[in-house]
Amino acid sequence: MPFLDWFLYHSVAMWLLLQSFILMAFCFHSATTFPKGCYPSTEDGFKTFRCSKAQLTAIPKDIPNDTNKLYLDYNQISFLPNDAFQNLPLLAELDLSHNVISRLEIGAFRGLSESLHLLDLSSNKLVSVNKEVFNSLKAKANLSSNPWLCDCTFQQLIERVELVAGTSDGIICDASARKEHIGKPFLQLVGDIDFCNIYKKTTDIAMLVTMFGWFAMVISYLIYYVRQNQEDARRHLEYLKSLPSKQKKSEESSTISTVV
Ligand SMILES: *[C@@H]1O[C@H](CO)[C@@H](O)[C@H](O)[C@H]1NC(C)=O
Ligand SMILES: *[C@@H]1O[C@H](CO)[C@@H](O)[C@H](O)[C@H]1NC(C)=O
Repeated sequence: MPFLDWFLYHSVAMWLLLQSFILMAFCFHSATTFPKGCYPSTEDGFKTFRCSKAQLTAIPKDIPNDTNKLYLDYNQISFLPNDAFQNLPLLAELDLSHNVISRLEIGAFRGLSESLHLLDLSSNKLVSVNKEVFNSLKAKANLSSNPWLCDCTFQQLIERVELVAGTSDGIICDASARKEHIGKPFLQLVGDIDFCNIYKKTTDIAMLVTMFGWFAMVISYLIYYVRQNQEDARRHLEYLKSLPSKQKKSEESSTISTVV
């Protein structure tokens, strides 16, 4: 029967169409629940959220608040604002490596002080970071492969942060007040020089120079004074030497007078 065939054919087509609509709606739904390019999983019992290579330019919103491990590596994130991870009280590992992060606000990791164990900031564009960013953070950090400016601020940061074992040689000075430091691992330099005392040393030298100046002035005045007195003493001596001859003269004159 041609009609039954037609009907069957179309109902099957309709059914397939309906199914694909349901599937599409489901896909759209899950796509709006999680940020694009991100997916959750459970790895070794840890709630993991992976957004690697997702072309993100900022920290995505709607990360599940029970996430233990968060992978945001290989994206284009350039800035971490205050409280960037505030709603993740169970976060233990945070991978931000291979981004273009150049700026961190002081409270970027606020709220992670108790939970976070591992923080990967390697392979970014960090030049200088205030040590207060790591305040009360207990996490070990990988800070290698960044264009660090090696100065007192950086020394204070390194003193504050516990580095992941074996990552210290990857912390290279990209800029420094002294050219000979550029390209060298920072931790090999800190053994010999104190980046926070260079300034103090220059003020010490300035003090020394000033003191020497004063000292030289006092000494030269003393020399002048002694010379002047010597002159006076010599003149006085000459005067005294000249006295007996005068006396003789006067004696002579007196004898003359007595003779007269
Ligand atoms: C996550 O958010 C839900 C709903 O706001 C809340 O009930 C739950 O306690 C939060 N979980 C954690 C680990 O904070
Ligand atoms: C630290 O970061 C560097 C550069 O991204 C990477 O090669 C290295 O494997 C990391 N080390 C650890 C222990 O995670």
